[in-house]
Amino acid sequence: MYRFTDYYHNKVTLSFDDHPFSRNPKHVWVICTYKNKWLLTRHKERGLEFPGGKVEENESAREAAIREVKEETGGSIEKIRYLGQYTVAGKGGTIIKNVYFAEIKDLAVQKTYYETEGPIELSHIPKNVKRNKQYSFIMKDDVLKHCMAYIRKKR
Ligand code: GTP
Repeated sequence: MYRFTDYYHNKVTLSFDDHPFSRNPKHVWVICTYKNKWLLTRHKERGLEFPGGKVEENESAREAAIREVKEETGGSIEKIRYLGQYTVAGKGGTIIKNVYFAEIKDLAVQKTYYETEGPIELSHIPKNVKRNKQYSFIMKDDVLKHCMAYIRKKR
């Protein structure tokens, strides 16, 4: 279990156990690869981030992950694997988010990318994400670092 604070000083708890905080988390985040690159999206307000969002009614977290990747990048998923779960305790309450690792098989151009500007392919995630204004706050805490290390170890 890892504990740290996020960009806004909210308390974050991250674990790579099997759904340690909730069986039905309401948020998902998907670390995506496409043709040996990382696949991100550019959120219109927050900036560059891996795709994700909220689980809708009558949808599982995994279904939400697949849907969000499609909506925000146009990507179709070849393989998706649960990685871990984290909680963020904010002023408005605590959110619980599943993290997945997904391999994308193709990118189809979408009519809309919702609140994002669509797919962004990157060969490397820079070291200075925490200080880089282009990146979203959700990329700026140690969830990213620990998940990337976990992916490197388990892949
Ligand atoms: P809407 O209901 O769509 O307006 O969204 P919201 O801004 O209320 O956000 P949401 O319910 O998605 O999240 C509530 C709060 O949790 C956000 O304002 C963030 O502070 C925090 N949060 C959500 N996702 C993450 C995340 O991945 N990392 C961190 N550190 N905080 C997050």
